[in-house]
Amino acid sequence: MTEHWIDLRSDTVTQPNEAMRAAMAAAPVGDDVYGDDPTVNRLQDTTAELFGFEAGLFAPSGTQSNLIALMLHCARGDEYLVGQDAHTYKYEGGGAAVLGSIQPQPIANQADGSLAIADIAHYIKPDDMHFARSRLLALENTIGGKVLSPAYMEEATSFAHGKGLATHLDGARICNAAVKLGISLKDAARGFDSISVCLSKGLGAPVGSVLLGPREFIERGKRWRKMLGGGMRQAGILAAAGLYALEHNVARLADDHANAARLSAGLARIEGLKVATPQTNIFYVQVPPAAVDGLRDALLAARIRATVGEHTRLVTHINISEQDVDHVIAVFSAFFSDWRATR
Ligand SMILES: Cc1ncc(COP(=O)(O)O)c(C=O)c1O
Repeated sequence: MTEHWIDLRSDTVTQPNEAMRAAMAAAPVGDDVYGDDPTVNRLQDTTAELFGFEAGLFAPSGTQSNLIALMLHCARGDEYLVGQDAHTYKYEGGGAAVLGSIQPQPIANQADGSLAIADIAHYIKPDDMHFARSRLLALENTIGGKVLSPAYMEEATSFAHGKGLATHLDGARICNAAVKLGISLKDAARGFDSISVCLSKGLGAPVGSVLLGPREFIERGKRWRKMLGGGMRQAGILAAAGLYALEHNVARLADDHANAARLSAGLARIEGLKVATPQTNIFYVQVPPAAVDGLRDALLAARIRATVGEHTRLVTHINISEQDVDHVIAVFSAFFSDWRATR
């Protein structure tokens, strides 16, 4: 039994360490609605520079920075093309439609997470009063832990631009993609008109995302952010955590990927489990339906949290060590050996 909880539900569950907390406590602050917060300004400039954009806008969440982007690219009665499995479409409360009056045009994701170019072409509407105006292609990288290749991103963004669409990337885990691909953050963001980068996922900050784009776009975004309730005051305390994360926690994402690979390999040795090979820090395990409830209880009894179901999602992050991984494999193995014996 471990002393601590091992939480594999998401990479959003991380705890800030002492050094990150110290950076937050020491941050010079001001009222960011007036543009006065030096730490927020430094975070916005640093992130824009790192990813190769003109300007950045600090928002409290990825949901809000994505929505600001959608509302900037699309007006009332416009539509955006997006994957069925994309976070902006499926897991953000329908905000684009509800708050932006933007119609989503969902497109089935391919097994590798991409949207087929032929499907994108098919769903772009002609300029005709019967249709919503197709204005934007929104992609996500990584998506479900899968990495979209630079070649695909180049093809999809060039195609969209050729059709007069703008392009937005939900880059909640773009740093995972860049580390996996061994490319710079600039190269990982190339081709997109805007990108939302989350600091509160694998990077380990408690709060925050940065929307990146052209300066004029970001200036207009401040109005939407204010309207959506994201105009924060002495937000430098939060931005300092993001700066710390960008400085210290990007390259180490490779450790999370290695731990996911170790966990997947260990679970794959257990009879009855179908385990995906992770590309980054998120992967899925197919659990026999009859074992789901028992597995959930066994994990909780061993102080392991996971989103257990027929498709169990497992996520590694900064607070999961190699020893934790080995413990999780041992608990799964013991559970399934008992479970098989009683059947
Ligand atoms: C891919 C992706 N995009 C956007 C978000 C939204 O981020 P937030 O929870 O900060 O609103 C998440 C959250 O988990 C996510 O996984």
